[in-house]
Amino acid sequence: MATDKRIDRVLKLKEGETTCPATAKSEIRPSLPECQLSLWVSSMTELSASPAGPVDQMRMMLAGHVIAQSLHVLALLGIPDLIESGHRGLDDLAAATGMHPPSLHRMLTTLASLGVLTEIADGEFGLTPLGATLRSDVKGSLRDQALFETSGEVWAAWGSLVYSLRSGQPSFTSVNKSPLFSYLAEHPEAGAVFNRFMTAQSNLQNAAIIQNYDFSGVRTLVDVGGGQGATLGAILGRYPEMRGTLFDLPKVVANTPLIQTPEFAGRCDVIGGSALEGVPKGADIYVVKRVIMSFSDEDSLTILRNCRAAMRTDSRILVIDPMVPDGIKAHYNRLTDLLMLVVPGGRCRPEREFRKLFDAAGLSITRVIDTGSSNFILEGTIA
Ligand SMILES: C[S@@+](CC[C@H](N)C(=O)[O-])C[C@H]1O[C@@H](n2cnc3c(N)ncnc32)[C@H](O)[C@@H]1O
Repeated sequence: MATDKRIDRVLKLKEGETTCPATAKSEIRPSLPECQLSLWVSSMTELSASPAGPVDQMRMMLAGHVIAQSLHVLALLGIPDLIESGHRGLDDLAAATGMHPPSLHRMLTTLASLGVLTEIADGEFGLTPLGATLRSDVKGSLRDQALFETSGEVWAAWGSLVYSLRSGQPSFTSVNKSPLFSYLAEHPEAGAVFNRFMTAQSNLQNAAIIQNYDFSGVRTLVDVGGGQGATLGAILGRYPEMRGTLFDLPKVVANTPLIQTPEFAGRCDVIGGSALEGVPKGADIYVVKRVIMSFSDEDSLTILRNCRAAMRTDSRILVIDPMVPDGIKAHYNRLTDLLMLVVPGGRCRPEREFRKLFDAAGLSITRVIDTGSSNFILEGTIA
């Protein structure tokens, strides 16, 4: 197993050494954090003479909630931003965040031992590249993802995973008494975090989409469920002749600074509405990015049928979604799939399920493009 090999490799490191032998191989994705986690696993073995085994690996996996919630609180308290702006000492950080210094110290040293922070001197902390991803002001910031995915509402939903397994329904709705998108509309603060998370995630994903799909010749594009316009903005920025329409729920598009920039003046419309009721008509291309994943088969079919009804005979549709591979091949999208089950009540589908949905909606898939990232592009036309 790959994990065993990684652990073996790390076990060959001398005590206290944190440099991973694989780091030089990959300049883009340094593997220090991976090594840190593996060192943790190796530190757990109860029989000091034996290498870390399944019991230790399982204990580390079971401790995932400790790590996830600590990262959530680190982001929530804005500690990465504080450290970046020079607040490095424990007392300074505790005063700025209103925390109990000895307890905060326990969390910060634990996160430092996981490679998220460094301890520059006793009680003085710095950021590693890993920890810097939780700053609010960096490109590709994961701060809002950390805030949303381990928020109280989502955390409570995971506590009822078994409800979703039993019923096939999202436990988020059951524990929060409201489906995700209604909840976000009813709770503006949570809605703002979610929308910022979508924008930051899109900013990470847009390049792979634009590099893998040629929009040349497209004069009009509707982005269905386009959030606050990060993907539409990236496409319009690359294709200056194109006109775009951002379409999403009214409260989501009520404030879309990205699209209001002078660069897009006169070639971008913003329309609030529900794709479950209909979408703007007559565009050359309909982009439906990471939307179908959030819905049940029944609602996905309604959205696809509404897109079909809005399309001209020569229009195209691009469903851009994370697909799960067949079989049990390791893939991050599998974790996203479980998240979709528990939170919005959707699903990361394999290709064959998309084919069924497209067929039922009167659409045919013309191409499936692997963007090399989590997203796949399914191009379709009217069947
Ligand atoms: C997972 S987010 C993806 C956002 C964006 N497309 C992206 O890739 O970042 C799903 C989007 O679907 C929108 N949405 C949910 N229900 C909708 C509906 N009934 N009609 C239109 N958009 C909807 C949400 O507001 C949200 O922006």
